[in-house]
Amino acid sequence: MEKLAHFPNHVAIVPDGNGRWAEQHGLPRLKGHQAGAENMWRMVKYLNKYPIKYVTLYGFSTENWSRPDDEVAGLFHILGEVILKKTAELNKRGIRLRHLGRLEELPQHLQKAINRAVELTKNNTGMTLSLAFNYGGRAEIVDAARHIMTDGIPPENIDEKLFNSYLYTTGLPDVDLVIRTADELRLSNFLIWQSAYSEYYFTSVLWPDFDEKESEKALLAYSQRQRRFGRL
Ligand code: IPE
Ligand code: MG
Repeated sequence: MEKLAHFPNHVAIVPDGNGRWAEQHGLPRLKGHQAGAENMWRMVKYLNKYPIKYVTLYGFSTENWSRPDDEVAGLFHILGEVILKKTAELNKRGIRLRHLGRLEELPQHLQKAINRAVELTKNNTGMTLSLAFNYGGRAEIVDAARHIMTDGIPPENIDEKLFNSYLYTTGLPDVDLVIRTADELRLSNFLIWQSAYSEYYFTSVLWPDFDEKESEKALLAYSQRQRRFGRL
C-alpha cells in the first residue's frame, strides 16, 4: 500500500452482512456467521501490520438477543470456537485481548474462552483487540453511572474524564475510525461515547468479503480526512 499520511490509532468495526452473504451463497445464516468470524481473525492480522494500536470488534450487541434462539446459540458457539482456536496465535503476536460488555450474561463456555484469552494476553504490549460481545453503548453508560453512584463519587467530581474511566473501555483511547460493512449507515449503539468525534467509513461490501484490499480503502479514506474536533 502507498504510504499514508496518518493512520488511525483506534479502529472500531461493525461487521455486518453475514446473513446476506450466506443467502448469496445459498447457505444457512450460521455459515455466514462462520465466515464472518473467520474474517474477524484475518482482519486482525491485516490491521496488525499497520501502526494501529487498538482494534475493537462488535461481535454481539445487547439487541442481538432478539434474534431466534438457535441463531444466538450458534453465534456464541462460533465466536467461542474462534477465540479458543486463535488465542495462542494472538498471544504469540503480542496482541492483548479485552472484553467490552456484560460478560456475566453470556453462556459459561464463552465466558470461559474470553476470560482465558484475556488472562493469557494481559501483559502483552502489542495491539489491543477489544471484543464487544453483549455490548450496548447505552447499557455501558448506565453501568458507568451505577458504578459512580455505588462508589459514592460526589457530583462535583464527575467530569468527562472521570466518567470515561468508568466505561467498559477504561484505558482505551477514543475511536478514530469506525468501519461498517454491508451498506448499513448506522452506529447501532456501538461505542456511542467513544465515537463522538470519529470518522466513519461505510461500504456495501458484506463482512465476510471485506478483505485486505477493502481495509486499505478504508485506511486511505481516513488518511484523507481533515479532523477538526470543532475547531476552524
Ligand atoms: C452481522 O451480520 C453479524 C452480527 C450481527 C452478529 P448479520 O447477521 O446482521 O447479517 P445481515 O445483516 O442479516 O446480512
Ligand atoms: Mg445485519
